[in-house]
Amino acid sequence: MAERRRLVIASGNTGKLREYRELLAGTGLDLVAFDGDVDEVGETYAENARLKAETAAGRSGLPALGDDSGVEVEALGGFPGIRSARLGPTQQDRTAELLRRLEGKPRPWNARFVCVVALADRGSETRFFEGECRGEIVPEWRGAAGFGYDPVFLVPGTGKTFGEMPPEEKRLYSHRARAVRALLESGALEGLSV
Ligand code: IMP
Repeated sequence: MAERRRLVIASGNTGKLREYRELLAGTGLDLVAFDGDVDEVGETYAENARLKAETAAGRSGLPALGDDSGVEVEALGGFPGIRSARLGPTQQDRTAELLRRLEGKPRPWNARFVCVVALADRGSETRFFEGECRGEIVPEWRGAAGFGYDPVFLVPGTGKTFGEMPPEEKRLYSHRARAVRALLESGALEGLSV
């Protein structure tokens, strides 16, 4: 039997990894998790996604996908954005800190999730794919599905937060699913080097 082609997913975030496994299940690629512990020193999602993807590709010798994502809240001028993972030591602290900063601000707390995926492969320029999902931050935590800020992110028209959606429903709307759709539609995964 022919060996399956491998693609490294450069992330140590189990919530993200689970989503990539589901979103890329139809590609037939053998997905390998690689947590390079890369310092996110970039000033944009794309720079950080590139750092993760190119570090993983360089160390593994395989094509690699890096992801950088975050939530941007309008009333906070787009904060926390690329700093979404650094608002506190645990996700519970981070969500509480976000809600604390919104206290007293008029609702709705319009927000969007953004995801940039970088695909690094030797011999090619790194390519980028982006997805966004618009919604609203709500003060009460609803549901325990997903990860990160999912329980406080309400998706318009559904009456549900991402925390209340099973994975197959979240992927209809999510920024990560949209970025992966753009990646799949580009055909970039068909031409990988390994
Ligand atoms: P990074 O991309 O590893 O820098 O982390 C992005 C952070 O944004 C995560 O740790 C989450 O807190 C948040 N985030 C990104 N995508 C999602 C999502 O799909 N649901 C909830 N939170 C997310």
